[in-house]
Amino acid sequence: MTEPHAAYAAHVAARAATTARALAETGFDRLLIHSGVPFTYFADDNDAPFHPTPHFAHWAPVDGPHHLLDVVPGKRPRLVRVQPRDFWYAPPAPAPDFVQREFDVVEVATPGAAWKEIGAAGPRTAFIGAAIEETGTHGIVPAGVNPRALVARLDWERTYKSDWEIDAIAAATAKAAPAHRAAEAAFRAGAPEIEIHHAYLAALGDVEEALPYTTIVGLDDRAATLHYHGKRGREGGKARVFLIDAGAATRGYACDITRTYIAAGADPVFARLLDGMKKMQARLSVEGRPGKSYVDLHFEAHRIVGALLSETGVFRVSGEEAFARGLTHPFLPHGLGHFLGIQVHDVAGRQIDREGTIAPPPEGHPALRITRVIEERMLFTIEPGLYFIPMLLEPYRTGPNRDAFDWALVDRLIPSGGIRIEDNLLIGRDENRNLTREFLPD
Ligand code: GLY
Ligand code: MN
Ligand code: MN
Repeated sequence: MTEPHAAYAAHVAARAATTARALAETGFDRLLIHSGVPFTYFADDNDAPFHPTPHFAHWAPVDGPHHLLDVVPGKRPRLVRVQPRDFWYAPPAPAPDFVQREFDVVEVATPGAAWKEIGAAGPRTAFIGAAIEETGTHGIVPAGVNPRALVARLDWERTYKSDWEIDAIAAATAKAAPAHRAAEAAFRAGAPEIEIHHAYLAALGDVEEALPYTTIVGLDDRAATLHYHGKRGREGGKARVFLIDAGAATRGYACDITRTYIAAGADPVFARLLDGMKKMQARLSVEGRPGKSYVDLHFEAHRIVGALLSETGVFRVSGEEAFARGLTHPFLPHGLGHFLGIQVHDVAGRQIDREGTIAPPPEGHPALRITRVIEERMLFTIEPGLYFIPMLLEPYRTGPNRDAFDWALVDRLIPSGGIRIEDNLLIGRDENRNLTREFLPD
């Protein structure tokens, strides 16, 4: 790994350069980025777990709401940090040393004092954040509040990960890998979903709120619910299939990892499908190289799903014919992957230029989150899936495609749920770096 302070300094310098360019292109000469406002549930005094504004997190992993980052091209950036005097809740941790080296840091006790520190802002100041009410009273014009042209350019830059960001995602993966191992061991020992989830958290050493997304822990048929968040307490022991999609976060960056395991007694056709999906996932992780369209990679996943289902007799037609007739859709209803970074589903996957032009997903593939050509320093997931989802299969049981399926075999496989295998891939100049396999080889 790169020396952290040097990598962070380079990351901040890159933010300064790309932000200066984006401001110049969009008619601004100053940018204020707000770290976020706590979200309080309606008619309650309870807050949701705090997530910082991603644009703020891109500059600085500084905990807590109400901070303001003040960026003026050519000047050292300022961080106005709000440190409340609070005895109900523990105040956020101070800004780490490596951040303090790169910013002029001012500490204040209230959000109002932070705005006072910012001083007068004019029509050429842009603001990014959720604290919109305050902008008007501080001289920021409506066109300067979350301006689309500026946000598009900053999102575009987030496509290309710096060494600092890559190190953070690698560190998150290093934390998540032993937790995945612990979850697998719990499954093998016959634990129910809730205990597997607790085994994951215990090995990670984090509270649930620190996860980048809610764990998906599905045994047997629950593996077919793409974002299954239930945690049953009694069904361990007899389960033959275990799907876990769980991550970790470090310095505000996420990893996003899925594994599917089977136990002795699993349906042999399902076991063959799992084997085929593992091979396909490994192959696509190598084939996703600069110059290739991510959409084509996604289509390739559908073709291979078609071939696997044909080879195992689920389809009564060839894989190619099944693909051509759109019959793989109910089995793979999500996209092959997404950008990964500060957000688990990171920005700009469908944005094809810095100005913000959007390339929609191809017809019939509405869930595909990346429609771009692959480039160096992109970091995305490769997560093919193959599921037996009764709701999606139902329409095919009647009508012109009915005979293309062996329905008795489909019904036999529904209790096995499904398969997803997900790695996080950094696109390098000479080769890809599979961050996940470095820490979780199988
Ligand atoms: N964990 C959510 C996803 O894989 O997209
Ligand atoms: Mn994912
Ligand atoms: Mn995932």
